[in-house]
Amino acid sequence: MGLTRARPVTVDVYVQPGDARSALCEEARLGLCGHPKELSPKWLYDERGSQLFDDITRLPEYYPTRREREILEARAGEIARLSGADTLIELGSGTSEKTRLLLEAFQERGRLERFVPFDVSEAFLRSAAEKLARQYPRLQVHAVVGDFERHLGQLPRGGRRLVAFLGGTIGNFKPAQRAHFFREVAEGLAPGDGLLLGTDLLKGRDRLFAAYNDSAGVTAEFNRNVLRVLNRELGAEFDLSAFEHLAPFNEEHGWIEMRLISLHEQVVPLPALRRFAHFEQGEVLRTEVSCKFRPEQVEAELATAGLHLSAWWTDAAQDFALSLSFKR
Ligand code: SAH
Ligand code: AVI
Repeated sequence: MGLTRARPVTVDVYVQPGDARSALCEEARLGLCGHPKELSPKWLYDERGSQLFDDITRLPEYYPTRREREILEARAGEIARLSGADTLIELGSGTSEKTRLLLEAFQERGRLERFVPFDVSEAFLRSAAEKLARQYPRLQVHAVVGDFERHLGQLPRGGRRLVAFLGGTIGNFKPAQRAHFFREVAEGLAPGDGLLLGTDLLKGRDRLFAAYNDSAGVTAEFNRNVLRVLNRELGAEFDLSAFEHLAPFNEEHGWIEMRLISLHEQVVPLPALRRFAHFEQGEVLRTEVSCKFRPEQVEAELATAGLHLSAWWTDAAQDFALSLSFKR
């Protein structure tokens, strides 16, 4: 039996390092110099942050990844059959670890031709894409370095497509951004194309709190990593030990909110902006929200965007859900 050579990986780059730095400057001007302080979660994911997220997925308290994998183990074949796709696009793909379950199932059906991992974290995406191409030598791996808030219009077209957005990353958008995202995804799909969406479900607050405030402190490291990114990219002078991690559940909004709390009053130089960030003692910098959902809410929001729910699966504990919807 001959060895099949991996097909070369194609990489489209829509986020150049210089653009990312300008966007970070812009956000930091608004998000760090006024009140309340807030940054988009995408800045958490440089190479180190992507690795730390991968470590989080193995923590005993962090259930979403295990629960979603449980659903995929049971349903990947059904997903491949129902979608009928020849192209699988994965937004916010990270390591694409769980996605291998889908790739296997699609390969058994023999129709999948193309896999498109799409992520903002370039180095991590390139190495994940190379690994996938070696593991699935018949598959065309076409990676896209992009921001899913800006570059959904650049997704490769043609064929029957299934867009996967896994891990509960949809929860990292606030409601208005989420509605915009669903609309943009739906507008880019052709009739018959599908969206496979992972959503973390509402549950008791103690389990939610434990998942985002783990005892080993990995989530705290992940959160503080954004300060390293600011130090490196903007020449900022954040002292990481001067900020505490806390991720409480906000009942009103139904989201976990990752915070960095200033342990004392401090003035942090931001040389790239020729400004300073002033923090009061106890002042909060919000770095991420992670929304938790009710099933009927997910179905209604998808329908508003023109995506019609076809299947809804949960794990045995009903912690997490995968939904498959189609554009008509
Ligand atoms: N899908 C994987 C990884 C989830 S972590 C899983 O289920 O485990 C979230 C991923 O989204 C990271 O890889 C991060 O780099 C990516 N990401 C975050 N914000 C992004 C943005 N605005 N555009 C594109 N990718 C983004
Ligand atoms: C990527 N995203 C779905 C994770 C979440 O659970 O919201 C990011 C994360 N933040 C803290 N822990 C994990």
